[in-house]
This record gives sequence, structure tokens and C-alpha cells, in this order.
Amino acid sequence: MTVAEPRALFIDHAGVLGGAELSLLDVAGAFGARAEVVLLADGPFRAALEARGITVSVLPLGALQQVKKSTRLPSPAALADTIRVARRVAKHVNTHTVLCANSQKAFVVALAAGLIARRPVVWYLRDILAPPHFSRTNITAAVTLANLRAARIIANSHATADAFVAAGGSKALVRVVHNGIDPAPFDAIDDRAAAAAREQLGIPAHDYLVAMFGRFHEWKGQQVLLDALAGLPDVHALIVGAPLFGEEAFESALKAQASRLGLDGRVHFLGFRSDVPLLMRAADVVVHASVYPEPFGRVIVEGMLAGRPVIAARAGGVIEIVDDGDTGVLVPPGDASALARAIGALRSDPAGAAAMAERGRIHARRSFSLQAMVRGVSDALAGLE
Ligand code: UDP
Ligand code: GLC
Repeated sequence: MTVAEPRALFIDHAGVLGGAELSLLDVAGAFGARAEVVLLADGPFRAALEARGITVSVLPLGALQQVKKSTRLPSPAALADTIRVARRVAKHVNTHTVLCANSQKAFVVALAAGLIARRPVVWYLRDILAPPHFSRTNITAAVTLANLRAARIIANSHATADAFVAAGGSKALVRVVHNGIDPAPFDAIDDRAAAAAREQLGIPAHDYLVAMFGRFHEWKGQQVLLDALAGLPDVHALIVGAPLFGEEAFESALKAQASRLGLDGRVHFLGFRSDVPLLMRAADVVVHASVYPEPFGRVIVEGMLAGRPVIAARAGGVIEIVDDGDTGVLVPPGDASALARAIGALRSDPAGAAAMAERGRIHARRSFSLQAMVRGVSDALAGLE
């Protein structure tokens, strides 16, 4: 599908392929020639956008790159960098009717660029603006700027929208647009391909296999799955993903934890993969275990589209995706014993697990379509002054 109007200049601070970037890839892809993307860092995201025929420019950050979500106040150098990059972004604005920032850092740059180029600025908010995700100072600064200058906030879930409003954000600005995911790559996988993938990974056909997908970060909860596995002696796990934003120490800690728990040989660290639909289909269960509230959680919808039962942590946007006991299983965040019990229960009831997976698959196709997301974003970016 393509979109006629508005014409958008999307801005993202990341060059890596996180969920926010994969979602923007689909939105910008649907906008086609009516979208252009500015990245504030180079990386594989640029090639992925270019492969879809989307015009991309990379304008790297300097000192602003160093500002973390936990930073109390940005340095004068970071502020100067914001102005420098914003001037360059403003030069890219021609027939675009709106600037749309895909991350908090990009929002700050977009606000300054919007002032220079006299265009409305929309923040596509994909984060829960609450501690421990962000420092209080960071939240106050972002919400104040949003209330003063944002033409609209697109929130990726009601949980994200509610956190914005709870932090003082104006409710009138917010529209909720859930992520939509294309089912086609999931539909393209058949049982033979899944079985072959499993064999290639060295997982015996009769062994139970759970899989978790996501960047390496303490809040994504890979450590919780490892603890759960310690109590499930004959279950294998695929841990798929990589440290995307400098969490290499966490990756080493996870590998050490797996060895300490005696899980070597049962836990397979696969790194970042671009064949997620195949790996999900190769597994018996898809696990999500975020320890802090997940803003949305694409991996949950993807697990459903792969026709696999999903176990997810009951917090944030997850509750808007999974109906516990019907379209998936919800467990308390950070509770390894509850996760182990949920895995055990699905394993002991294959017919029930398959029926749940099928209900999840139908629900994901209906409720999280690409078309609905693109329409929602397009509407939210239209008619702004
Ligand atoms: N993903 C991927 N390869 C990997 C691990 C994850 O392509 O090795 C994708 C995954 O399929 C999903 C996204 O990364 O689409 C993660 O999005 P999610 O919303 O679950 O979490 P985020 O990283 O955005 O917080
Ligand atoms: C962010 C969030 C994730 C969400 C994704 C797409 O990266 O962490 O929960 O699914 O954006 O909106």
C-alpha cells in the first residue's frame, strides 16, 4: 500500500535495527516517495531503508550521542551539537509537510529543525517515559518540550500514552497507533523449513525448544529465562539478538550466567539474525520476559504470527496484545519460577498450546495489521499547522 499525503521527513537517532527502526522501515516503506529519512548515526538501518527505495541521509551526532536516558542535564557541548545537526536537518526539508521524530534524541533535534524550517514536529513516542527507563530530569525536559512544541504525539501503545500523560504530558496531543506487522514472511515458512532449521542448530527433534528475541539489555530479561531454564532440565533455548547500544558487558554476564547454571549445550546464543520468522517457527514457544514495562513488544505479535504459543511479561503494552489464557500466557515480570511453570504447562498440553497459538495467530493478523498502522500514522501526520 502507498500513502498520498502527508509528505514526511522522518528522523531517527539510531543506525542499528531495533524495534523502533524496524517499525519505521515499514511506515516509510509504505509512504514511498513521500517519505525521506534522516539518520543521526550510520549502520545497517541505512542499507535496509535504501533496499526499500527510501531516500536516506546520515547526519551523525557528536556530543549529543553521548547523552544517555539516565543523564541528568545535557552538557553545553550537547546543546551546541543539537543546533548544528538541526541546521543540517532543516536543509533537507523541501516539500515535506511535517517532521516526525522516531526517538527522544531525534525529537530534540527535530524540534530545533522544525523551528528553523517552520514545519510542525510530531514525536513518534515508543518509550515508556518513567523511571527506571529514564531519569526524572530527562522525563521532565522531554514532556515540557513536547507540551510546548510538539504538534502531536504518536504513542505505540496505551501504556506509552498513559506514562506520557502521567508525567505531565498533554493528553490532547496523543494518538495511539499500535505496531502492525506484515504476516507474509511468517506465512512463507513451512514445517519442513522449520524442521531443517532446527536440525541445523543441532536441536534434537524430540527436545523442547523455547526462543527469545531481542536486543541484549537487562530490562529485556534474558537473565530471567536463563534462571527459568535451570529448573527445566531438558529444555533448550535460543537467545536471539545482540547488544545494540553498547551492552557488551551484559552479554558477557549472560554467557557467564548460562555456564554457572550448567546450561551450556542447552542455551544457544545466536547473535542478531534476520531470519526471525524461521527461528520462531522452529521453536515450540516464543518467550518475552522484559523486567520493566515493555512499551509495545513487536516480538510478541511476531510469535503469534509464527503460529507459536507466546509467554510474555504482564506489564506495559503487552497487556494490550495478549489476553492471558486465550491468545497467550502472561507471567509476572522478573519471576523465573512462574516462567518455568508456564513453559512446563504448555509442554505438557500440546493440543491446548496449539489451539492457543492458533487463536493468537488470528488475533495478531486482525489487530496488528500493517495497513492499520500506516493509516494511523498517516492520519496523525496530516492536517497539522
Ligand atoms: N529482531 C531481529 N533480529 C534479532 C533480534 C530481534 O530482527 O536478532 C527484531 C524482532 O524481530 C523485532 C525487533 O527486533 O521485530 C525487536 O522489537 P521489540 O519491539 O520486541 O523490542 P525493541 O528492541 O524495539 O525494544
Ligand atoms: C521500542 C520499544 C518496543 C516497541 C518498539 C516499536 O523499541 O522498546 O517495545 O515494540 O519500539 O514501537
